[in-house]
Amino acid sequence: MKSTATTETTTVVDSAESEGKSEAQEAAIFDKTTEKGEEEGLFRACMKSIRNAHKSANRLRSVLVVSGLFTDVKVYREVIVLFYAATNAMETRMLALKDEECDEICGKLLSLGYRFAPQYEKDIKTLYNLDDDGNNTNADLKLTVEKVLLKSTVGAKAYIETIENMSSGTELAGAAFCLWGALIIGGGAMAMPRVQSLCGKDACHLFRDVTGPGRSERKTKFIQMFDSLTKDEKNNDEKKDTNNDDGKSFKFDRIVTTCQECMKGNNELMTSVKINPWWLKYIVSTAVATVSVVAFYYLPKSQRERT
Ligand code: HEM
Repeated sequence: MKSTATTETTTVVDSAESEGKSEAQEAAIFDKTTEKGEEEGLFRACMKSIRNAHKSANRLRSVLVVSGLFTDVKVYREVIVLFYAATNAMETRMLALKDEECDEICGKLLSLGYRFAPQYEKDIKTLYNLDDDGNNTNADLKLTVEKVLLKSTVGAKAYIETIENMSSGTELAGAAFCLWGALIIGGGAMAMPRVQSLCGKDACHLFRDVTGPGRSERKTKFIQMFDSLTKDEKNNDEKKDTNNDDGKSFKFDRIVTTCQECMKGNNELMTSVKINPWWLKYIVSTAVATVSVVAFYYLPKSQRERT
């Protein structure tokens, strides 16, 4: 039996509830954060676009928790490598578009000051015991990431490739909403205590800029930045009469649709993790032993003597 991110939904819901909140409560918190954005604004539109996929993300995460996300380093590090690959592709493109094409949206996104890829890298080096011996460490890191990507699903590979090929700030904003948003305004940062107790402090660089005092200010800045992203654009578009039927600019709609696609992409990354946690073999052997004992005692005596 393989423990994958496609286990039964019942297990997942039970698991989400055992973590303290029901699905309805989690959805209510999500909606409350949605309302912090401006009415008719980009932030709200992006949140609404990912609402359904976020429910699935919650469930997938619960499956991963059952599979060992916070109890087996091998599960956690594989998840981290996949999210690193997507984030690194996104941040690399963002920096390139800002520097080479003076992309305004990329400039605004980067002005928040976040760079998660280097933090992921430090954690991956710790989690895979890649010694810090100069250039070789980066070669080892590349190799480690390639190995994980090689066995990842078609969907996960396609998501990362889509980000690598993004050619505008509007697309990258959709990706940033999903990859950065999960950490800055979502539940990502809340995982830190569990990661620290499983993997140690040296594997928690990822959470450096999204934990500690100031969470509410960080959230507000993220929300306001998103609401501001296409504002000038909307005014210009109005002058140029390039608005869509819904009264939003084309860039606004492009960000929202990319956002929706990227949240599905995030889910693809989680679905891609196919690892048997270290404790699975004990559960399987215990189950096999129990079934054998039960079968032995319930077999008719004549059959038992033959076996
Ligand atoms: C890989 C993708 C994601 C996963 C697996 C995920 C999973 C979760 C989980 C499990 C929680 C509950 C946390 C807890 O109570 O301990 C949560 C909360 C939340 N998530 Fe996500 N999420 C993801 C992406 C996002 C994104 C992209 C956003 C929006 C930008 C988002 C917004 C939120 C919000 C607003 C909450 C409520 C946080 C609070 O308690 O204040 N999530 N998420």
